[in-house]
Amino acid sequence: MKNTLIAPSVLAADFANLQRDIEMINASEADWFHIDIMDGVFVPNISFGMPVLEAISKHAKKTIDVHLMIVDPDRYITTFADLGANVLTVHYEACTHVHRTLQAIKAAGMKAGVALNPHTNVALLEDVINDIDLVCIMSVNPGFGGQSFIENTYEKVRQLKALITKKGAATQIEIDGGVTNKNAKQLAEAGADVLVAGSFVFKAADPIATVADLKKITTF
Ligand code: DX5
Ligand code: ZN
Repeated sequence: MKNTLIAPSVLAADFANLQRDIEMINASEADWFHIDIMDGVFVPNISFGMPVLEAISKHAKKTIDVHLMIVDPDRYITTFADLGANVLTVHYEACTHVHRTLQAIKAAGMKAGVALNPHTNVALLEDVINDIDLVCIMSVNPGFGGQSFIENTYEKVRQLKALITKKGAATQIEIDGGVTNKNAKQLAEAGADVLVAGSFVFKAADPIATVADLKKITTF
């Protein structure tokens, strides 16, 4: 049975009611918390940093999946481990030595993820795929929530799935950006294991029911 994981992106939460929104996700069928860290250099936006993650970690009762949209992420790997990250994802485009970065993330006790911008081909990961716990395929250009899903993503998911199978890797495939109930099932069918959803969950009239719906349509 396919059990796709749902990871609400806290970027779309109400920051003035953060504890309430974290507890709402705790009470939902969501599997992970997705935490977007942006530095205003790698992406044209600044989200939030360590003190906010520390506050989230105190209340979050599910896996904490941190997506670093920052240059030179190696500087902060142990810091994010100390702040409670369980999965730490860096951008392929922000790393000069991806293999070394992956080893450092694992040595700090976390699962190691690599995110790919929409223009970055999945074939570039061929030589490191067996070292990667999770590949995050960006289905929007990183930097902002609420953007439209890029349709070419389905093809990338299929290419990545084929690469993982060919190499006998155990890598999970995550999709991030513009995920809704319109594309979730097709993404899961193409091979996605984790779906990040920000606006679609937090801006919904009933976020808990929205998570349950995403879970239902991607379980088959
Ligand atoms: C975009 C972030 C996403 C974002 C997704 O740079 O990495 O995680 O929060 O938000 P939605 O689901 O609204 O596209
Ligand atoms: Zn993200």
